[in-house]
Amino acid sequence: MNDLQGKVAVVTGASRGIGEASARALDSIGAQVVLTGRTVEDLERVAEELSNSPVIIPADLAQAGAGTELADRILNEVEGVDVLVNNAGIPMRRLPEKLTEAEIDLVFAINVRSLLTLSIALADSMKARGGGSIINVSSVASVRGPGARVAYAGTKGAVDAMTRALASDWGPDGIRVNSIAPGLIATAIWEESRNTIPGLIEEMEGQIALKRWGFGDDIADVVAFFASDASKYVTGETLVVDGGLARVSASASPQVLPELIE
Ligand SMILES: NC(=O)c1ccc[n+]([C@@H]2O[C@H](COP(=O)([O-])OP(=O)(O)OC[C@H]3O[C@@H](n4cnc5c(N)ncnc54)[C@H](OP(=O)(O)O)[C@@H]3O)[C@@H](O)[C@H]2O)c1
Repeated sequence: MNDLQGKVAVVTGASRGIGEASARALDSIGAQVVLTGRTVEDLERVAEELSNSPVIIPADLAQAGAGTELADRILNEVEGVDVLVNNAGIPMRRLPEKLTEAEIDLVFAINVRSLLTLSIALADSMKARGGGSIINVSSVASVRGPGARVAYAGTKGAVDAMTRALASDWGPDGIRVNSIAPGLIATAIWEESRNTIPGLIEEMEGQIALKRWGFGDDIADVVAFFASDASKYVTGETLVVDGGLARVSASASPQVLPELIE
């Protein structure tokens, strides 16, 4: 059921982290993967370990027109697209008072605008192939209200809202659109904070019910689920994949008065 033989899957932000793990997962179940990101050496390193004739197409998704242009280049290289993993994204950790307009524009350009324009520009190809699956990587930031991340949280809330809206637009064409909201995943996105904020790892782990950070493959397994027929009747959903961070009490102690416990 998880078989993607003969399918073409595009992964943005495939040069490391969650995107790299997703590319590996999709390749392992048979998809030909198109890897995109800015850093060619990293894309080449990822491609070397894939088996199904991976294709590398570098692109900077911060630029106006980048999503549409990338789609054109992809469709010149492969015969069509069945799966799109919109994973590329940047963080933006700032107090609201310190945020500049240029920073707001940048995080929305990459996390929202290019995600939408790339999806729109590849939708016709999916329709022509009888349907497809779009998987948007959002964040628990969209449901949790994190401090000092208002612009980032805004982009991820937009991603989840667009996921539902596109599922409505393209459901009749057989295109499913879902999003994954990762929690704390140990990737480069956290590297600076992990190195500079003492006790960050322990503090964060304390908030997670499963008591560990996630890894790229924790998300990639769910990407493979949404990409394949294992999720054929699921669309417009956001699946939180966070070890129990956003919606589960992480405390092992009872949260009610002792006299109320049976
Ligand atoms: N890690 C977490 O805890 C976490 C939690 C929730 C959500 N997420 C989301 O998961 C996604 C992947 O994050 P990650 O943790 O794997 O981060 P990462 O290791 O920093 O990877 C980010 C990816 O996005 C690409 N990218 C960044 N800017 C780009 C641009 N201007 N144009 C094209 N590609 C660009 C990067 O490639 P290049 O640098 O080569 O361009 C890289 O492949 C993001 O959308 C992030 O918001 C992560």
